[in-house]
Amino acid sequence: MSTVSFEAPRGMRDFYPEDMAWRNRIFDAWRRSARRFGFQPYDACVVESLELLQRKSGEEVSEQIYAFEDKSGRKLALRPEMTPTLARMVAARQSRLPFPIKWFTVAQCFRYERMTRGRKREHYQLNMDIIGSEDVLCEAEILGAAVDAMRSMGMPDGAWRIHVSSRALLGELLAASGIPERHHPAVFIALDKRGKIDDSEIADLLRGEGLDEAAIGKTFALLAVNSLDEAAAMVAADSKAMADLRGLFDLAHAMGYGDLLMFDIAVIRGLSYYTGIVFEAFDLQRRFRAIFGGGRYDSLLALVGGQPTPAVGMGFGDVVVGEVLREILGDACPEPRAGYIIGYMTPEQRSAAVTLAAWLRADGETVDLSLVPQKPKHFFAKAGNSSALKAVYIGPDDVASGTAQAKNLQTREFESLSLAQPVQP
Ligand code: HAM
Repeated sequence: MSTVSFEAPRGMRDFYPEDMAWRNRIFDAWRRSARRFGFQPYDACVVESLELLQRKSGEEVSEQIYAFEDKSGRKLALRPEMTPTLARMVAARQSRLPFPIKWFTVAQCFRYERMTRGRKREHYQLNMDIIGSEDVLCEAEILGAAVDAMRSMGMPDGAWRIHVSSRALLGELLAASGIPERHHPAVFIALDKRGKIDDSEIADLLRGEGLDEAAIGKTFALLAVNSLDEAAAMVAADSKAMADLRGLFDLAHAMGYGDLLMFDIAVIRGLSYYTGIVFEAFDLQRRFRAIFGGGRYDSLLALVGGQPTPAVGMGFGDVVVGEVLREILGDACPEPRAGYIIGYMTPEQRSAAVTLAAWLRADGETVDLSLVPQKPKHFFAKAGNSSALKAVYIGPDDVASGTAQAKNLQTREFESLSLAQPVQP
């Protein structure tokens, strides 16, 4: 047999226990915050029909799909994102669901990306979506839950910002600059490539869409608008897009995260289904790709064949946030100490150790029981490096006296445990 590479396929990740500590920290925070904000869990298979996933050309993600045929010739794919699947699931039960619904999932996604910092070919995404309401309170709730998750992971507020804009507002600004609405979807996709390709290439894309030089100049000029007030002066006084944006900033302040939000007209998003407010979170120095992103997509339900239904949601990946957290908190994931580690000196104390472990486990405690006899020095060195809070080392004297000492590895205090305690039923 030829030797197999020990590396995971390019772009895919192995999770050794030290990596799982980070992953669990992130997933636990995601799930806790989503539930705290009233989102219900859902899930679906990572294999999706290719037809559902293939939409607008020009979207980066549709060129990155891992696609294959099953043995019956069905065209399938590993999902690059969860939103089309969510839209399909909601459309399938549209007459029965109690809208508005608030759903969340942690979904593994696959994209054949060019590998850069923070971008892999496989990642996990927390998705939180609210379907069935046009109210900007939905955006505020989703962002509030994301902020809550960031804070409980240990991310300081000073390390990141949420950049917010609105495609509806940009649409109004483009219209006010004389660029007809039929060009807007292509302009959004082209402008989203800013920073990834040269402005001259973006101008070529706009030319290809039929925009003349004056219109292209005006389009680029809009990207220099850098405050809500400046934008407000360029659109109608009763602009709904502007009212929604201002409403979101007000709600964010009321919810305690207003200072994390900033208006940034350059946030457009690469997916074509967004119709209103869009947002992306970045580290303060912008050294990493987006931490999370999302927005309002009021047309997608109809696009997959459902009834037109307003919707808003976000995807929050595990890769970038993990990298930023490691930079701030260090490589070793800080885990609170908990539970017991139990060791013994010779095979004669093994059964006392097994019995004590069984009793503690029956009591709901976590116990890491040594598999071999150890010298005290080796046992306590291992205990110090473990995540246990209390270490119990059983020698012949302990068995003779019927009690063992549990050492609290944080406070260095001792507590006596009876070795005669019967196992709880
Ligand atoms: P997205 O911006 O394509 O949006 O992805 C959301 C997040 O997933 C990104 O901000 C990033 O954290 C993570 N992510 C995406 N691609 C990769 C990758 N190749 N490697 C590592 N992390 C990645 C969406 O997917 C939308 N479906 C989100 C959404 C939900 N909009 C409405 N509802």
